[in-house]
Amino acid sequence: LSLRRVVIAHPVVAEDADASTADVLDQVRLVEAGVAQLGHACDIVAVSGGRVWEHAARLAGALVFNLLEAPPGRPQFHAWATGALELLGVPFTGSSAAALWLTTDKLATRALLREGGLPIAEGGRLDVRRPSVLERVPAPWLVKPAWEDASVGLEGKPVCDTEADVLARARALALRFPAQPLLVEHFLPGREFNVSLLAGREGVEALPVAEIAFVDFPADMPALVGYEAKWTSGSFEETHTVRRFPGAEDAALLARLRTLALAASELCGVAGYARVDFRLDEDGAPRILEVNSNPCLAPDAGFIAAATQAGVSQAEVVRRILAAAHEPPGAR
Ligand SMILES: Nc1ncnc2c1ncn2[C@@H]1O[C@H](COP(=O)(O)OP(=O)(O)OP(=O)(O)O)[C@@H](O)[C@H]1O
Ligand SMILES: [Mg+2]
Repeated sequence: LSLRRVVIAHPVVAEDADASTADVLDQVRLVEAGVAQLGHACDIVAVSGGRVWEHAARLAGALVFNLLEAPPGRPQFHAWATGALELLGVPFTGSSAAALWLTTDKLATRALLREGGLPIAEGGRLDVRRPSVLERVPAPWLVKPAWEDASVGLEGKPVCDTEADVLARARALALRFPAQPLLVEHFLPGREFNVSLLAGREGVEALPVAEIAFVDFPADMPALVGYEAKWTSGSFEETHTVRRFPGAEDAALLARLRTLALAASELCGVAGYARVDFRLDEDGAPRILEVNSNPCLAPDAGFIAAATQAGVSQAEVVRRILAAAHEPPGAR
C-alpha cells in the first residue's frame, strides 16, 4: 500500500466545539506534516456526520488515514464511519470498525479482558433503579458513561464515597447520555500509567511506559485525570498532572505493564496503534482501565510523547501507522 495517495479523513469541527472535539485538528496537522515528509501526495477530507460516502470519489484509490472521531453523546459515530470505509472497500489506518466499537464500549471490553484473565478494576453496569452492583463493588466509586472517552462525564468531583452521591451522579449522567449504559468502578488509589503501542517491523511494540504523576494534589482532591485535567487549560488539575517516564527503579512493574498492554490489545483485535491505560490497586498491582484504539495523535498527547521518548519521530509514527494499514475484509 506504500505508494498510494493518502487521504486524511477527520470529522468537521464546529466553531463552538468542545476542546475534546476540536483537538482532532492538531492531529490532522501532525499527520499532514508526516505524510509530506514521507513524500506522499496528501489530501484532507472533513467528513460531516460520519458520511464518508459523500467523498467516495476522492477516496477511490487512496489510503485513508483514519482520524474520524465521535462527538460527545454520539459515540457510535466513528465505528459507523469506519464501517462505511469497509463497505466502500477503501483501505484505512488503525483498527477495524468492530475493534473500534468493542473498545469504545468499556463494559464489553472489561468482559473480554476479564474472560482473558487480565486484571481490571472491580466494577460493573450500574442500573440506577436496581443498583445491586454497589453491594459487590467496594467504595469509593467512580461512575462513567460506558461509551464516552476523553474523560467526558468525569467533570468536577467524580469520586463518590456514599451510595447517595454515586446515585445522584449516575442519574445526572443518565439524563445527559440517554440510552447509554453506565459503568461503576472501584476508584483505584494507586499510580497511573499509559502504554502506547505502535506497529513495528516485527508486529506491535510497546513504547516507553508513561506515568501521569499527581503533583501536590491536596488531600481533598482525588488524584485522577478527569475532564478538567485534560481540557481546561490552566486549571489546577491540568497543571498538576504531569507526564513522566519512570526508569530502572520500576523495571519489573514497567515490564508487567507492557506485557499486559500487548495482551489486552491482542484480545481486543486493535491494529496499527493503540494506548492502554492503567491504575495500580491497593496492593500495587496494575489493573487495566481501558484500551484506546486510534488514540489521540496530537503533538502534546501521550502517544506522541511516548514515541518521542523512544526516539521515534512524528513522521516515523505516521509511516508505521500507514505501513500497518491493510485492505478491508470486504475489498476485492
Ligand atoms: N477505576 C478507576 N480508578 C481510578 N481512576 C480511574 C478509574 N477509572 C478512570 N479513572 C481515571 O479517569 C481517567 C479517565 O478514565 P478512562 O481512561 O477510563 O476514560 P476515558 O474518558 O475513555 O479516557 P481517554 O481520554 O483516555 O479515552 C483515567 O485516566 C483515570 O485517571
Ligand atoms: Mg483513558
